Amino acid sequence: MLVWTLVATLLLSVSAQTPQTTKGKTITCFCDKCANLECVSDGYCYTSTRIDKETKQIEHDFRCLNQSHFFPPGLAVQCVAAPTNESSMLCCDDKPFCNKNAWKPLESSPSDEKIGDDLSTDTSLIIFVGTTVLVVLLLVLLVIYCGWTRNHKWKKQRPGALFKSNDSMDPQDQQPILGVNNTLRDIIDMTTSGSGSGLPLLVQRSIARQIQLVEIIGKGRFGEVWRGRWRGENVAVKIFSSREERSWFREAEIYQTVMLRHDNILGFIAADNKDNGTWTQLWLVTDFHENGSLFDYLSTRTVDIVGMIRMALSISTGLAHLHMEIVGTQAGKPAIAHRDLKSKNILVKLNGTCAIGDLGLAVHYDDVDGKIDLATNSRVGTKRYMAPEVLDESICENHFDSFKRADVYALGLIFWEITRRCNVGGIYDEYQLPYYDLVPSDPTIEEMRKTVCEGRHRPSIPNRWQSIDALNAMSKVMKECWYHNAAARLTALRIKKTLANLGASEDIKPPQ
Ligand code: ADE
Repeated sequence: MLVWTLVATLLLSVSAQTPQTTKGKTITCFCDKCANLECVSDGYCYTSTRIDKETKQIEHDFRCLNQSHFFPPGLAVQCVAAPTNESSMLCCDDKPFCNKNAWKPLESSPSDEKIGDDLSTDTSLIIFVGTTVLVVLLLVLLVIYCGWTRNHKWKKQRPGALFKSNDSMDPQDQQPILGVNNTLRDIIDMTTSGSGSGLPLLVQRSIARQIQLVEIIGKGRFGEVWRGRWRGENVAVKIFSSREERSWFREAEIYQTVMLRHDNILGFIAADNKDNGTWTQLWLVTDFHENGSLFDYLSTRTVDIVGMIRMALSISTGLAHLHMEIVGTQAGKPAIAHRDLKSKNILVKLNGTCAIGDLGLAVHYDDVDGKIDLATNSRVGTKRYMAPEVLDESICENHFDSFKRADVYALGLIFWEITRRCNVGGIYDEYQLPYYDLVPSDPTIEEMRKTVCEGRHRPSIPNRWQSIDALNAMSKVMKECWYHNAAARLTALRIKKTLANLGASEDIKPPQ
């Protein structure tokens, strides 16, 4: 009782000092990285100020602080943190653009002239006390909570409580933490709040080391893919050979990009490297999809019109998510290009939607320094699916959109593979790889270049497609994906919208 009285008192005193959310209100703020230099916030405008470690110059970010980024939810403690000599945060919501030319001075930096609101010493003191009280409060709550949950599922624990500070690095010691009835889905949801950047590393290692390999389901240039079991759940384990360490590292790194998790991107579970004394085992663990790859699926099965659109829409939704840059105050997602899109790298889920996998060749664009992180990985995409500008090396590697456009070209070929297998009235085409009739199996770059660049050939559109609205619509989309002029191709987002409309007319539900 005494503890709760103390907690309630502390809570009241902190919330009195801390900005509160106001439902329904929005404010336009100055935003230095937005296209039109403004953003609309349902919380505050802010200016974050810091010293650049290299140049020693003071730098400011002027942005929106939406309620979804308040910590803890409903409050915005980040707004009341006392300035240090390295950083400060100013939040305001009193008038539109209130953060323009306004910032909080850093502690003991008299040269950093403040243009905006002043903070009196009293206010700073209150803020300091408020923040300290909040930290104490959180610790008290944590202690109470840990005691209370000792005999409960850890589903209710905060992500940060997964590991105690004295946790050993031995994954065996993580058993008590993972030793309850949580599914992989539960663990991922509770540690990444859904959108995530991957499980804590020791949890990844613990999971990986509890997996039993059951059967080999694929082989590639990187190594093998196995079906494995983790506590009765199927998982896919991609085992890289030691010399593919960079591919393993790269793929794990890309999968753990903040906010990458999406229904139409293969779900990443864990990466682990284990030295067995002779060589290093490199594992990448993902969701397992029993239908296998789109290539496997289409090779043996047909789809109806609704199934065709559902597949094509889900792949374009996944690609649009990959390509999209998400700008956020705390978490954002860089634009990512896949660079090895093909039917063998797409998985078919039980509900007939797809997930894009094999991100080992992906590149992302860092809009802060405008650089493309071309990984030092010698792998190139699959020749059969290479866009003309990749085949003749005219692609402009300094321009990130070039990589997205090359992905869209490959997407057009994948749509062609799917549409051939669309069964209307018992009529469908046999499964074939794109350009099956124009190049040999395992074609060289030169064979592909002659066909695609010089001959300007594209997969042929069967006559039957013209008389069936949905197939005709698909053929129109794919032709607009594989234009020789990369800039004329549709974007993944445009394709997603077009297919969603086509789906609406065929009465299918778009994937969420
Ligand atoms: N083949 C390659 N990756 C796979 C996965 N994640 N699930 C099922 N089969 C696969």
